[in-house]
Amino acid sequence: MKSKAHFKSHPLHPILISFPIAFFIGTLISHAGGLYLDNEEWLTTATWLNAAGIIGAVLAAVPGFIDYLYTVPPRSSAKKRASLHGLLNTSMLVLFVLLFYYRRQAMPSQLFLLTGELIGVVIMTIAGWMGGTLVHRNQIGIDMRYANAGKWQEAYFSPDSSTLEVADTSDLKVNAMMLLHINGKRIVLARTEEGYAAFDDHCTHRGGSLAGGSLICETVQCPWHGSQFSVKTGEVTAGPANMGITTYPVTEKNGKLWLKL
Ligand code: FES
Repeated sequence: MKSKAHFKSHPLHPILISFPIAFFIGTLISHAGGLYLDNEEWLTTATWLNAAGIIGAVLAAVPGFIDYLYTVPPRSSAKKRASLHGLLNTSMLVLFVLLFYYRRQAMPSQLFLLTGELIGVVIMTIAGWMGGTLVHRNQIGIDMRYANAGKWQEAYFSPDSSTLEVADTSDLKVNAMMLLHINGKRIVLARTEEGYAAFDDHCTHRGGSLAGGSLICETVQCPWHGSQFSVKTGEVTAGPANMGITTYPVTEKNGKLWLKL
């Protein structure tokens, strides 16, 4: 599922999170080192790293939130994971903002500060682990290029009627798919060896995006756990899914493809 906040297919969120991770861990290390060595400069560095971490976290959150809204498949296990990931990171950020203001008091408790930093780093580590799962298992932000699939294609429509023109016949090569957003509904338009097909972009197992899967011999395979569905009938041809997907009729007319909802 290609990221919506990317630079030349490289998602921005995983790039930017390196900064707050380094700065907040640096805050803890610098603070602990400053206390151990009784070194005022290390303590000042901790304050600056705390501030830099806050700025870095806010910058990293922007593309992360865009991907949360528009890249993570709705009603999926990944959406739940991404919600918790965001909640944990927001809590961690609020904690470091509070610590930043607290450490500027005349006589802040160093033990309180250190404990807060440690808790913040632990929360960040758990959230980071979940972020890794979102990328490496749920493939959020991955620009997949299966054989013959071509580049990721997406189109948006707000039709008044239930029948609409969605693409030119030349837009899709054989075994290529395109994700359509129609009045908020996600539908995959696919071209098979036998013609064109359309179906819901929602694997009935745990909500994986079928548009991000692979298509071959009129069968689409979910990228998350490998469930397979016939794109003509919507039937499950291989589990773990045990419920079929909804399909929609597609007709071809004068080089245009028409979808009926
Ligand atoms: S979400 Fe598990 S196979 Fe599709």
